[in-house]
Amino acid sequence: MSRSESAEIRHARTGLVFRPGLEGVPATQSSICDIDGHEGKLSYRGYALDDLAAHCSFLETTYLLIWGELPTPQQLRDFEHEVQMHRRVSFRVRDMMKCFPSDGHPMDALQSSAASLGLFYSRRAIDDPQYIYDAVVRLIAKIPTMVAAFQLIRKGQDPIQPRDDLAYSANFLYMLTEREPDPLASRVFDRCLILHAEHSLNASTFSARVTASTLTDPYAVVASAVGTLAGPLHGGANEDVLAMLDEIGTADRAADYLDAAMASKRKVMGFGHREYRVKDPRAVILQTLAEELFARFGHDEMYDVARALEVAAESRLGPKGIYPNVDFYSGLVYRKLAIPRDLFTPVFAIARVAGWLAHWREQLGANRIFRPSQIYTGSSMRQWSPLEDRLPSAST
Ligand code: COA
Repeated sequence: MSRSESAEIRHARTGLVFRPGLEGVPATQSSICDIDGHEGKLSYRGYALDDLAAHCSFLETTYLLIWGELPTPQQLRDFEHEVQMHRRVSFRVRDMMKCFPSDGHPMDALQSSAASLGLFYSRRAIDDPQYIYDAVVRLIAKIPTMVAAFQLIRKGQDPIQPRDDLAYSANFLYMLTEREPDPLASRVFDRCLILHAEHSLNASTFSARVTASTLTDPYAVVASAVGTLAGPLHGGANEDVLAMLDEIGTADRAADYLDAAMASKRKVMGFGHREYRVKDPRAVILQTLAEELFARFGHDEMYDVARALEVAAESRLGPKGIYPNVDFYSGLVYRKLAIPRDLFTPVFAIARVAGWLAHWREQLGANRIFRPSQIYTGSSMRQWSPLEDRLPSAST
C-alpha cells in the first residue's frame, strides 16, 4: 500500500472509521514539537532544531522541552547541579543488574532497571510540583548511568561511578569507555542527544502518554516507552544501516545494491519517514557531525559507501519523497565514538527520555485517560455447550 492510499476501514454497523496505525489521526494536542515534513523543518517549543543543536547543551534543551522555556543561567546551573547530584544509582539497582543475563539485550536491561526506580522512589504525588521536578531530575540523571553500568556488568566488570567534574555527555562517555573523552567527542555526542530528544507523537511517546494518562508514576511511564522504543520498527534502524553498509562493502557497489533492493522491493535502511518528504533535518546535522569526527579522528570508509548510496538514491527514491532519515548517519557517528552497536537504541532512549517526560507533564496538565474504541470482528452470539459435548473446531 502506498503512502497516499493508506488503509481506511469503515464499520458497516456503527459507521466508525478505522485507520490502521492511527495514521493521520490526531490523538492529542501538544505544544512541544512541530514537524514540517515538506520543508524539512523541526522545532522544539518554537525554537529551530538547528539553533538548539548549534548553541545549547542537551540539559538546556531538556529543560526547554520539559518546562516550556529556555532556562536562565541560574535555572540551568541549578538543573545541571541537581542532575549531577542524582547520577548515582543505588547499589541495589546495580546488584539487580548483575543478576541480568549478560547476553540479554541492553534495552531489556534498561527497561527493567528504569521500572525498578519506581520501587525505590515509591511516593506517587503527581500533583506535587516538587515530586515532578525530582522525578524528572532522577530519570534524566540515572538513565545514562544505568546504560553504562549494564555495558560494564555484561563484560564482567564493576560499573564505574559517575565523575562530578564531567558534564552530562562527557560523563556518560567516560562511564561507558572508562576513558575521559576528547571534548569534541563529548560535544558531538551532546548534539546527538539534542537531535534525538523529541519527535512528536511517535510510537514510544504515544506509549508514554497512554501510560501517563492512567496517573501512574513517571518511572512506569518511561519504562513503557523504553519497551516500545526497543522494537525494530522504531529504535534500532541505525544498527541495520551499518549492517547494510557492511554488506555493500565499497562505494562503487552502492548503485547496484540499490537497484537490486528496489527490484526485490526491499526497503533501504535509513531511508524514508512517515513525516518527511525531504531529507530529515536531523540527518543533515548528523552528517556534518560525522564529518567533524572524521576530520579529527580519522576517516571512516563506511562513510564513502553511505555517501555513494545517498547519491544513487537521489534519482531512484527521491521522486517518491524518500530521503535519508535520522538513522542513516547516526550509526556512523556512534561507531566513531566507540559506542557498541547494540547500545545505539539505549543511547536513543537517553535522549528521548526528555521528550517522554515533557509529554508526561503535558498529559497530566489536561488529562483524560486514553480509552479508544474498536471495531469488533469476532463471532456473533453463540450457544454455550457443556464440555463433554464439544468437538474440535476446524481451527483448533
Ligand atoms: N527503501 C525503499 N523504498 C521505500 C523505503 C525505503 N527505505 N521507504 C519507503 N519506501 C517506498 C515503499 O516501498 C512504498 O513504495 P510504493 O508506494 O511504490 O509501494 C512507498 O515508499 C511508501 O512506503 P511506506 O512503507 O508506506 O512508507 P511509510 O511512511 O509507512 O514508512 C518507514 C516509513 C520509515 C517505516 C519506511 O520508510 C522504512 O521502512 N524505512 C526503512 C527503515 C528505517 O530507516 N526506519 C527508521 C525510520 S526513522
